[in-house]
Amino acid sequence: MTSVDVAITTRPSATCDADLAKGPWEFDLSPGYGPGASEDDVIPDPVTRPGQLPTAYQRMSEDELHERIRNTKKALGDKLVILGHFYQRDEVVQYADFVGDSFQLANAALTKPDAETIVFCGVHFMAETADILARPEQRVILPNLAAGCSMADMADEDSVESAWEDLMELYGDEPDADGRQPVIPVTYMNSSAALKAFCGRHGGIVCTSSNASTVLEWAFERGQRVLFFPDQHLGRNTAKAMGIGLDQMPMWNPRKPLGGNTEEVLRDAKVLLWHGFCSVHKRFTVDQIEQARAEHPGVRVIVHPECPMPVVDAADESGSTDYIRKAIEGGRPGDVFAIGTEINMVNRLQAEHPEMTIFCLDPVICPCSTMYRIHPGYLAWTLDGLLEGEVRNQIVVADDVATDAKVALERMLAALPAGTK
Ligand code: 13P
Ligand code: SF4
Repeated sequence: MTSVDVAITTRPSATCDADLAKGPWEFDLSPGYGPGASEDDVIPDPVTRPGQLPTAYQRMSEDELHERIRNTKKALGDKLVILGHFYQRDEVVQYADFVGDSFQLANAALTKPDAETIVFCGVHFMAETADILARPEQRVILPNLAAGCSMADMADEDSVESAWEDLMELYGDEPDADGRQPVIPVTYMNSSAALKAFCGRHGGIVCTSSNASTVLEWAFERGQRVLFFPDQHLGRNTAKAMGIGLDQMPMWNPRKPLGGNTEEVLRDAKVLLWHGFCSVHKRFTVDQIEQARAEHPGVRVIVHPECPMPVVDAADESGSTDYIRKAIEGGRPGDVFAIGTEINMVNRLQAEHPEMTIFCLDPVICPCSTMYRIHPGYLAWTLDGLLEGEVRNQIVVADDVATDAKVALERMLAALPAGTK
């Protein structure tokens, strides 16, 4: 049984999603199983879907799965690198050679050029990014193809192309007297490879939560406005911190003509915010922060910038998952931290720092339910496949998409997070 399973079993009424209380294989088949960030993937059939874990692995004990993972990892040695995102469950992240935020993991994929295989214990868009940045001989595996990102699915290529056409019609495609383009597209890392390629083709860039302000500065040097997708909250929080007024950040709703705006509003806009969000981070509220402050005077409140703006404003600080980790590592015994991000990461930080009190602002257990789909069973099965000469659950980005996406990703890697040298 996994640590989150334990927590769920002992507090059955306190999860954000009733499906999480199911057994891991029942959960794996529950509705919502999908391809994640790549709209080009075929949605797997719930019965015959590719990449499904064989029954033999579903029946193995946790001990046997872990023994297999340890042995296979040892046998593969330097031919294998395992990457893990901070939100990944402990049972899996313990095998990662690198654990980090999205920006660090994009870089980490480049630091082991000799590894034949990169096993990405994160979500679909992260594995796609690793495939784009990896050497051609390297291959990338996402142990469970159902580990997508619901936010990434909120912006698809057709909707973004159609928004772009509307904007080109309105603004034209001529630069201003300073040579700045009418609009620069900026996609959050949490998006499909197709959207990263769109940005590469149209003079745009990718950002992560750790370098979003550097990226917006880059974009405003080259453009009069930014079309930011898919996360409205990261876009709004970052632009507001740069001094851009809320009246100059209209929302772009892809289901409405002109995104639901008038031409006048769009002409005056500085940042057009796509109507997307993360279902884990939108759960955090100002009330939770007030309660934490009432119960723990002196508490330091840090939230992820995917949280809604009033929450970020009410917190003491906001930053990427690595920012949160570093802030806690810089804490002193007795410090109290209330954190607005995913529960696996918060619980791990508390376990690593028993000298402090670290808790999640959200009183219910809310893991990133797609990362949660990477169970040790999937890790064991995909690693065993490598020893048997079978590559399971590989992520392959088509060459034409990868070429354009790489342009936008390399711009991102050069836009270092503020304060980094
Ligand atoms: P980070 O880049 O901060 O790791 O965030 C990734 C993510 O998906 C947060 O929901
Ligand atoms: Fe996507 Fe939210 Fe999970 Fe991050 S926490 S990977 S944005 S669903």
